[in-house]
Amino acid sequence: MNKLTWLCCIFMLEGLGAPLAAELPGDIEKCHFGDSPCLVKTINALIKRYPKGIPEIGLPPLDEYNFPDAPIVDTPHRGPIWMTFNMRDNVNKGFNNATITHVEGFLRDPTKQQIILKARLPRLLHEATYDMQGRFLLFVANTTGKLQSDFQNFRLTLTIKVILEYRNNKRYLKIYDLVPVVDIDRWIVWFDNLYRENEDVTIALNRSFNKNWLEFWNDLEPGLLKTFSTVFTVLLNTVFEQVAYDDMFLPDIDIRFGYSHD
Ligand SMILES: *[C@@H]1O[C@H](CO)[C@@H](O)[C@H](O)[C@H]1NC(C)=O
Ligand SMILES: *[C@@H]1O[C@H](CO)[C@@H](O)[C@H](O)[C@H]1NC(C)=O
Ligand SMILES: *[C@@H]1O[C@H](CO)[C@@H](O)[C@H](O)[C@H]1NC(C)=O
Repeated sequence: MNKLTWLCCIFMLEGLGAPLAAELPGDIEKCHFGDSPCLVKTINALIKRYPKGIPEIGLPPLDEYNFPDAPIVDTPHRGPIWMTFNMRDNVNKGFNNATITHVEGFLRDPTKQQIILKARLPRLLHEATYDMQGRFLLFVANTTGKLQSDFQNFRLTLTIKVILEYRNNKRYLKIYDLVPVVDIDRWIVWFDNLYRENEDVTIALNRSFNKNWLEFWNDLEPGLLKTFSTVFTVLLNTVFEQVAYDDMFLPDIDIRFGYSHD
């Protein structure tokens, strides 16, 4: 091989092993580490400006976010009452209307303090296909149908713990623990085809569910929170994997001048 071919090979290998780190779009104002008011402003500007996401940095469409399958309820398949409830083709709509109200953490050493994000959405719509199997005494359910779920005045607090990974001499965040807390004013749900044999039963169940939404919310909250935890961990980790942590912030001023701060 001649020199030029070698050079090509080396560049190609480098290209494979070390993709160029992605950068935030130029119109997003960067903040200093730990500058909470600036981060609130910047994240809100990003959400407003990019409702369709930013593919280059792995940010998915916020107005229509597809997320992985989620089991909500899975009790042992025996006895007179049991139930399995799974969701697929999940889409969340409404993150584009989110307002970030509070940001904490994101220090120069992001592992020193947990990260807290608070957001409010006037409405979060969740559309999915559900598969339900179960038995409630004599009532046997084995159905698949569409589900639409409308969480009104959705308030979210995420408490996040991260580790740092080093690639190509750059620091990258990785979430290892994310705990969501959710408050809502009302939950409106529609399942179609809930009881295939009889549309009236479907409508009656729909009415009962929506009348007693708070009890269902309390029962299903642990499963739903697990889903939200997956949703936000996947969403944020995808961006954190692409954009190096230091590239998200303004560079610290040189330590020799004594301006560096956390
Ligand atoms: C988000 O806001 C836009 C503009 O006000 C509105 O058209 C859209 O329906 C909202 N999305 C949801 C899921 O409520
Ligand atoms: C549920 O229904 C599907 C087809 O509609 C069938 O293949 C399956 O065996 C049923 N499962 C149970 C537990 O009845
Ligand atoms: C299901 O119940 C909700 C709340 O009562 C209602 O708004 C909706 O129209 C119902 N859907 C159907 C198809 O009956």
